[in-house]
Amino acid sequence: MDAIRITGGVPLSGEIVIGGAKNAALPLMAATLLTDKSLTLINMPELMDITTMSNLLRQHGARIDQSALAPDARSGVAGSGVAGSGVAGAGEAGTTGRSMTLTTECITNVTAPYDLVRRMRASVLVLGPLLARRGEAKVSLPGGCAIGTRPVDMHLKALESLGAKIQLKEGYIHATAPGGLKGANVVFPKVTVGGTENLLMAAALAAGDTILENAAREPEIGNLAECLNAMGAKITGIGSGTLRIRGVQALHGARVAVMPDRIETGTYAIASAITRGRITLKGTRFDLLESVFSAMRQAGVSIEPVPGGVVVAAENGLAGVDVMTEPYPGFPTDMQAQWMALMATADGASMITETIFENRFMHVPELTRFGADVNVHGASAIIRGRKKLSGAPVMATDLRASSSLILAGLAAEGETLVNRIYHLDRGYERLEEKLGGCGARIERIIGA
Ligand code: EPZ
Repeated sequence: MDAIRITGGVPLSGEIVIGGAKNAALPLMAATLLTDKSLTLINMPELMDITTMSNLLRQHGARIDQSALAPDARSGVAGSGVAGSGVAGAGEAGTTGRSMTLTTECITNVTAPYDLVRRMRASVLVLGPLLARRGEAKVSLPGGCAIGTRPVDMHLKALESLGAKIQLKEGYIHATAPGGLKGANVVFPKVTVGGTENLLMAAALAAGDTILENAAREPEIGNLAECLNAMGAKITGIGSGTLRIRGVQALHGARVAVMPDRIETGTYAIASAITRGRITLKGTRFDLLESVFSAMRQAGVSIEPVPGGVVVAAENGLAGVDVMTEPYPGFPTDMQAQWMALMATADGASMITETIFENRFMHVPELTRFGADVNVHGASAIIRGRKKLSGAPVMATDLRASSSLILAGLAAEGETLVNRIYHLDRGYERLEEKLGGCGARIERIIGA
């Protein structure tokens, strides 16, 4: 298994180009199942989760062509630069220009098998589109994972409101809608990102009007809704907690840009702050991560939005700042572990309260190995900052926990070995290269 070795204590300085967002790209890819025409996605990240989703979609009948797009072809993309939509402007400085064209002329198989779904929970996003287009889906139940039980009950209940018949048998969700889905009023009891995405896709082809209340407002939802509209859907209320969808009979092809990855942005912003360095993050936007940037400013980090990106710089003497994870626009749970690493190096104490997942402090015992002083009480953790962290061998447990260990390793004196880094490869593209380009002493050890 690969590991990452870091010799820490170097203030990072330079530029990092932020890639397309994994959590936007995955639902956008699933939208191919809604149409027999081609959907082209640009600014696609190269990540293991994208490969897993490609494999899943191929076995449903999708044809997937990938290519690097010529720079002059990066224009005329639907949704590009739409204000407040969360859609990255095509041709914006820093976009990678990799593109993927997905075409599902015919859904040849309605089963999403356990072997693929267990690798990536976002596989459940095929449920809504399969039901909407084929009236039938058999999707493995995802099961729990390292950060919590993560049920899909709200997805299923909401699809039932649209007329789906759902049974759970032998570990699979068996869903049918023989007469087609019908629009309805859905009130989510709790904000769910994946639930909102599944319902948006299902309702786009349902007969009549659907209203989704208490819908997630994450920018990735905006990216999906704009994409569906570019494909001919009729969705309004984008960016708000109430989405209105007027069902249409068929959707067509589109060309859509994947928004910049706000969690990759935040992770490298913290890499700059935790090493007391100065990094320009390119191809991303300040407004995608205001809650995190505002907490960083309170801690004493300089955050400066510039055209096409953000400059993040810090010196010693950062203050401890309390945060609580919340649905967007609150502080994202996907930045909680990285925030804890930063707070472990701040002057004074801080508290982090996790309200989204019940088991998302798995990084705490590993951060303690660097000398971090963290105490967990239920859903809250108290961190007492230390002048110095020291390098240690550690083990990654999930994607964002892994990145918090990389960040602690960058700040710590001496050598750190982060084991089990396959989690990182699910969500961070060319991490060693990006950090190495800013002066980090970091290398991948193959088969450690
Ligand atoms: C998305 O997961 C993200 N994944 C997660 O990112 C992110 O942490 C999460 O949203 C919250 O922001 C993708 O976008 C692919 P939820 P999702 O449904 O959709 C509970 C990362 O590191 N719940 O908003 O699965 C659930 O257990 C990943 O990139 C139910 O109880 O999250 C959780 O406590 C990790 N029943 C809460 O709601 C349901 O039917 C929010 O989950 C659905 C969810």
